[in-house]
Amino acid sequence: MAGVAFHSTELLIIFLAVSSFVVNCCPPSDRAALSAFKSALHEPYIGIFNSWTGNDCCHNWYGVSCDLETHQVAEITLRGKSEDPIFQRAHRTGYMTGFISSAVCKLPHLSSLTLTDWEGISGEIPPCITSLPFLRILDLTGNKISGEIPRDIGKLHRLSVLNIADNYVSGPIPGSIGNLSSLMHLDVRNNRISGPIPACFGRLHMLSRALLSGNQISGTIPSSISRVYRLTDLDLSTNQISGPIPASLGKMPDLSTLNLDFNRLSGVIPASLLTSGVNNLNLSKTSLEGKIPDAFGPKSYFMVLDLSYNKLSGPIPRTLSGTSYIGYLDLSHNNLCGKIPAGSPFDHLDASSFESNKCLCGKPLLNAC
Ligand SMILES: *[C@@H]1O[C@H](CO)[C@@H](O)[C@H](O)[C@H]1NC(C)=O
Ligand SMILES: *[C@@H]1O[C@H](CO)[C@@H](O)[C@H](O)[C@H]1NC(C)=O
Repeated sequence: MAGVAFHSTELLIIFLAVSSFVVNCCPPSDRAALSAFKSALHEPYIGIFNSWTGNDCCHNWYGVSCDLETHQVAEITLRGKSEDPIFQRAHRTGYMTGFISSAVCKLPHLSSLTLTDWEGISGEIPPCITSLPFLRILDLTGNKISGEIPRDIGKLHRLSVLNIADNYVSGPIPGSIGNLSSLMHLDVRNNRISGPIPACFGRLHMLSRALLSGNQISGTIPSSISRVYRLTDLDLSTNQISGPIPASLGKMPDLSTLNLDFNRLSGVIPASLLTSGVNNLNLSKTSLEGKIPDAFGPKSYFMVLDLSYNKLSGPIPRTLSGTSYIGYLDLSHNNLCGKIPAGSPFDHLDASSFESNKCLCGKPLLNAC
């Protein structure tokens, strides 16, 4: 090649040819990957893939968009529940079968893969997906995806959204998840995930929502979770988690929703939780025992405080009536005893909040003290 020389006009022509190719078309390798991706899927009702024809996959291919600088495929966004006109014309939500082809891993600039609410997409998350260096969003909610979360998911150091809720994903939460240093939103609700929450969870310093309910997660709540200091929403409900509630959860600066309901916890309610910023607290059906700490303060504010179906004993704490607001309170189905205090919040609650206790008495219950 060293001997090859071009006249400047020839160079200009070549430059223009190359640049117009880059501007107008997606690279043939991206187009080939998209074609293989499409051929593994079957969408019979809306016809979204009918637009995936011609050379320029960056324009008018439904749900495909390209990076403005590199002109490579950056996003695939296909939602089965959409307001888009093609859905309105079809008068129905989407349904798609098939699987996610590993060809998707041949889109080196892919930053977002959203394939939600198609009900019927099955198969596994292609393990090679962890080799996509720019992937930020992986949202596969509402399908029939099975198999495990790729072991080396932690390689995706730009990943900020991992949403695989409402699928059939099984196996453990991989230990490598602690390496997802950009992860902000983790939603794996309603799958078949088992095994413990890895202790390295505490390294997810960007994480604000961790929704893990409706799985078969076991083991204890690692106290390292309290180092995820941006966490606002922690939902571990409906799992098989055991052991005590770490008191350090009550020291988390931004935590506002804590759902631990329907688990196999033990021990007592940490007093720190009742004075923290948590204002949606569901500890129902968690086998907690001991007294409800008499630790509420004038700043305690609860939209929901559900302590029902436990083994809590002793009286209703006096400080509960000094809280600034309690919207919904459920203390039913415990072993509580004594007189229900008067005043707020008790005057706007009905008997169901207190029923089936050992010896509670007074209004709104019918039995006088
Ligand atoms: C996390 O990343 C580090 C550094 O890249 C690596 O050495 C380590 O093996 C990774 N941990 C896991 C569990 O994948
Ligand atoms: C709290 O959790 C229980 C058990 O999972 C559930 O039945 C109840 O509806 C929840 N309470 C609220 C107020 O959401």
